[in-house]
Amino acid sequence: MENLNIALIGCGMIGREHIERIQNRIRGAQVVAVCDVFEEGAKKGAEIAGAGTKVYTDFNEAINDPDVNAVVVTTPGQFHKGPVLAAIK
Ligand SMILES: NC(=O)c1ccc[n+]([C@@H]2O[C@H](COP(=O)([O-])OP(=O)(O)OC[C@H]3O[C@@H](n4cnc5c(N)ncnc54)[C@H](O)[C@@H]3O)[C@@H](O)[C@H]2O)c1
Repeated sequence: MENLNIALIGCGMIGREHIERIQNRIRGAQVVAVCDVFEEGAKKGAEIAGAGTKVYTDFNEAINDPDVNAVVVTTPGQFHKGPVLAAIK
């Protein structure tokens, strides 16, 4: 099976937990890009994900990164629609 290279959108409390879990406890998947509307938040996510993680503040750019082939959306519920529809597209 193809390795999942994940862009994680929304580096808040649950997003950071997911990053840690994906990097350390899930085989065949890694977070290669993180995105938060607040750059500082995205940088915190990237610190957890590790060296080389790409940092975005625009979810469209993260989703369209050529290295990305899967998306995890961990924004608050009212902000799910935009990144989820962009990922499906
Ligand atoms: N915290 C928990 O224990 C927990 C548990 C289960 C489910 N959830 C669910 O997870 C979701 C997120 O919760 P949280 O506690 O992590 O919230 P949070 O506010 O800590 O984090 C959300 C992050 O999403 C970012 N964000 C918002 N809109 C964005 C956008 N358009 N693009 C990029 N980033 C964006 C915010 O800047 C913030 O950093 C909620 O729907 C919540 O119900 C949370």
